[in-house]
Amino acid sequence: MLSIPRCARAVVGRLPSRAQLFKVTHPTCTPPISRACCSTASTAAASNTCGTPVDDNAPSGFSKKLKDGPSLADFMSSETGVPGGELSRLDSVEEVPYLSAEDLAGNERKVYFETYGCQMNVNDTEISWALLKKAGYLRTNNVDEADVVLIMTCSIRDKAERRIWTRLRNLRLDFSRIRGKLNHVKVVLMGCMAERLKKEVLETERLVDVVVGPDAYRDLPRLLAVAGSGQKAVNVQLSLEETYADVTPIRLNPEKSGAFVSIMRGCDNMCSYCIVPFTRGRERSRDMATIIDEVRYLCDQGLKEIVLLGQNVNSYRDVSEESFQKFGVKMDPTHNSAGFKTIYHNKEGGLRFADLLHKVVQVSPEVRFGFTSPHPKDFPDELLDVINENDNCFKYVHIPAQSGSTRVLELMRRGHSRESYLDLIQHIRKKIPRVRLSSDFIVGFCGETYEDYLETLSLIEEVRYDFGFLFAYSMRKKTHAYHRMQDDVPQEEKMKRLHRINDVFNAKALELKNAYIGDEELVLIDGDSAKSTEFWAGRESGFNVVVFPKTSVPCALTGASNVELKKGDFVKVKITDCNMKTFRGAAMERTSVTHFWQQRHQQAHNNLLVSA
Ligand code: 5AD
Ligand code: SF4
Repeated sequence: MLSIPRCARAVVGRLPSRAQLFKVTHPTCTPPISRACCSTASTAAASNTCGTPVDDNAPSGFSKKLKDGPSLADFMSSETGVPGGELSRLDSVEEVPYLSAEDLAGNERKVYFETYGCQMNVNDTEISWALLKKAGYLRTNNVDEADVVLIMTCSIRDKAERRIWTRLRNLRLDFSRIRGKLNHVKVVLMGCMAERLKKEVLETERLVDVVVGPDAYRDLPRLLAVAGSGQKAVNVQLSLEETYADVTPIRLNPEKSGAFVSIMRGCDNMCSYCIVPFTRGRERSRDMATIIDEVRYLCDQGLKEIVLLGQNVNSYRDVSEESFQKFGVKMDPTHNSAGFKTIYHNKEGGLRFADLLHKVVQVSPEVRFGFTSPHPKDFPDELLDVINENDNCFKYVHIPAQSGSTRVLELMRRGHSRESYLDLIQHIRKKIPRVRLSSDFIVGFCGETYEDYLETLSLIEEVRYDFGFLFAYSMRKKTHAYHRMQDDVPQEEKMKRLHRINDVFNAKALELKNAYIGDEELVLIDGDSAKSTEFWAGRESGFNVVVFPKTSVPCALTGASNVELKKGDFVKVKITDCNMKTFRGAAMERTSVTHFWQQRHQQAHNNLLVSA
């Protein structure tokens, strides 16, 4: 049985009772299924949930009244400040007396997963899979034998959304043409597009049966049960507290040597171009204790690389009493990186990301730890010290700049200038020698002049990143830019700027990478290289991909002179060549994290003695 999430318990007292809701919205119907239960706030226009389909072509009459009438959201206070004024609320299975355990059970129905977008989405799919598996569903990798097709969506840019629309339409066509059982397969739209486009996908195009927002995955078994009775079901409520802390995600690729652990969700930054705060809601962090437990579990399972995940991973702030009692770290006030400010009041106290990372790296010295995706405002010295001082931390920082022009950064509401960003980069390089950097950039943002764009190019040339993620601006509804600015850089010009920035970025990255040729790096073998089974591929400590031939090597740990390497081994690799994206190398010996770094420190010490 699924438990009531803490968020549901916390706010339920403020909600109207089901009877009250039912009375207001369905004066003439008799349950079994009330609107509030069948699909929360946003279902109103999709179905009357009393079993009678709403006739969309007849805007008058009951259907129209229903559409125009209040929804659950109208009965909720918006005091939470969640963008869109939605209140935290997730129905729990226990709260639905008219759905039997049998209705909620998966009964070995097969789910096919398809994930679009960022690593957070992959992790969300893994959480959903864990919840569905617990409810009795099975997984299939073959869409043709699926009973449920679950699409985890991304809406950060228009292109991502268009791709998913095309996929949804093709799926519907395939199901009706090939399988001829349109009613049997349930299509579930999950994640960021769910909140934004519930109306379009359910009503206008009728492409999906269930719509589930990023904070409502626990509700999946119930929503599927509702869909099973032939109705549409929606839960896109955002939560102030949901972190899925008690759900251990089931990895979709268990053969990989690494795993991701989600530590926080949502974003409070409200950059003027970005839809994320509206689709994923307010920033909230998971208890440190549950994170450490999950990390320990993964280390015990033999995983060798763990990346902590969050929309603004280094803005992590655990204010739970349990964690304070357990870890007793002192509560420092929050300091931003020098020269950075926030759109919201500074959040005081709590266990911060540096505290968490410090605890996490101690779980196993033989496992390598990283984090993504951070915000530049949250790089205090304590964090840089943890990264530098722990050999089992990636020496890599993603530090999204978005633009090199202070004027554009102000329009973007990023809270920093070009100069403060460059100062921070210099500071990070001083604190973490040999650190590798990457960044995100947007070109063609509202009001970006050619001169602004040249400043972005010059910033890239000045910083020199190992790799980057470059985007043409795509206007998103709901954002500050959508309401207040003009998308005034023509598409053609955006693409020109994007191509040129790409060329400059790659040329600089290649220059930087060439300088590493001859170095020895610690690589974790993740599997065969994408191009050939005769080569291994893995990441070095700066997060760059390294490809090298499968040869037998000596083992520094056992003294054996010839061992075959395998997936999950740490290897010392000499870098022999590179292109813009990848290093090529030659395996030198099998090693471990501690052995490799002891050797490296000893060498540095010896070099110092020689030069003194
Ligand atoms: N258009 C283009 N790129 C965007 N990003 C976020 N919103 C938009 C948008 N509307 C980029 C930012 C962010 C990355 C995840 O996606 O660079 O860091
Ligand atoms: Fe979007 Fe800015 Fe939040 Fe990143 S920090 S998710 S770009 S609003």
